[in-house]
Amino acid sequence: MTRAVCPGSFDPVTRGHLDVIGRASALVEEVVVAIGANTSKRAWFTPAERVAMLEDACAGWPNVAVALFDGLLVDFCRAEGVGAIVKGLRSASDFDYELPMAQMNARLSGVDTVFVASAPQWSFVSSTLVREVAGLGGDVTAFLTPAVAARVRDRAQERGR
Ligand code: PNS
Repeated sequence: MTRAVCPGSFDPVTRGHLDVIGRASALVEEVVVAIGANTSKRAWFTPAERVAMLEDACAGWPNVAVALFDGLLVDFCRAEGVGAIVKGLRSASDFDYELPMAQMNARLSGVDTVFVASAPQWSFVSSTLVREVAGLGGDVTAFLTPAVAARVRDRAQERGR
């Protein structure tokens, strides 16, 4: 396995994501962090903003690149010569969500998914909870890089808290 993808929405990237990306970067020669570009109406950050946050957060890993993708993840894998998908697992409910996707992706393309157990200190952290807590005025700085935390604070204010 020389090239792997870490896919996600990353709205925004959290320290939990970065833990998984960093560990993937130690396992394989190259990691592509692939941001699903299908922006939902409820997303806080545009695809371009998510790219900028991830590029900054991953700058310390020379073998990690950041890309946007549209459509099927397995088509992106084929186009980019990616041999494996790396995903973090925080809980049994993550497993229930991820297993069918992993099986579908393997069936469609032969690309396997490798699961990395979440570090315990991040197992309760999700982008969804970060947005909710920040949107209600809570402090989410522990779960984000300083640059991402600043963007989240600004966006929470823009959204009228
Ligand atoms: O961070 P998320 O929201 O769990 O990321 C989900 C993502 C973007 C990785 C997933 O929705 C995805 O792979 N979307 C691409 C569309 C696709 O390939 N769908 C079929 C999955 S079996």
